[in-house]
Amino acid sequence: MTISIAPKDRLIIALDLESDREALALVEELRGVVGMFKVGHQLFTAYGPDIVRRIIEKGVRVFLDLKYHDIPNTVATASAEAVKLGVSIFNVHALGGMDMMKAAAGAARETADKQGLQRPLVLAVTILTSMDDLALRRDLKINRSLRREVSHLAKLAQRAGMSGVVASPQEIKMLRKSVRGSFVILTPGVRPTWAGKDDQKRVMTPGEATSCGADYIVIGRPVLKAADRQAAVEKIVGEIEQHAC
Ligand code: C5P
Repeated sequence: MTISIAPKDRLIIALDLESDREALALVEELRGVVGMFKVGHQLFTAYGPDIVRRIIEKGVRVFLDLKYHDIPNTVATASAEAVKLGVSIFNVHALGGMDMMKAAAGAARETADKQGLQRPLVLAVTILTSMDDLALRRDLKINRSLRREVSHLAKLAQRAGMSGVVASPQEIKMLRKSVRGSFVILTPGVRPTWAGKDDQKRVMTPGEATSCGADYIVIGRPVLKAADRQAAVEKIVGEIEQHAC
């Protein structure tokens, strides 16, 4: 079951850009047509929490994509800081385990309630989409299939109190069968038919992803590289609208 979200709010633009100036200019350019932007390791490592505050000051929401993976206490304190920054979504690695995920979810809830802030969505990354069955077996010594492992970690994340998972387009249908209720699925690897695939291998269109059960989609280069970025966003939102569940 997907949650009820306006098509415009299902799209998250990845701010995979080198400078704070470029990132802020893009937010300014697109804030009328899209509501949320993703800050990842590149921008955060270069400009720190201040870039997140400056983006939020522009009246948009932020998905902080730092994929915390550490001992439960460390992840709990980092999660509390993410909430204080005012982000709407942040994430952790499910491979950090049950206790770590519970600590993240608990800290996010408590900090938000204490500060009178809206509780953010806390998502779990299951297995990175850069991994395949061979890497899982050979490097991690995990002997079940990637799909079974993803499904197992998503169920674990749900039991730990996570709000949802980050998943590849190919995993959405399978995950909708293995998790219960309004568990959020956020998916990158989405490409409109009019855009190139870049280095994404198995892509879905925005409409396919949302009709298969994704609540949120993350898109970077098809918008960043478009000649008219606002028009690109509007086209994507239009496609989501047409396929709304
Ligand atoms: O430019 P593109 O649309 O491929 O950007 C997708 C964004 O989602 C990037 O920031 C990328 O790091 C992120 N991402 C991904 N695949 C994952 C997890 C995150 O592409 N499995």
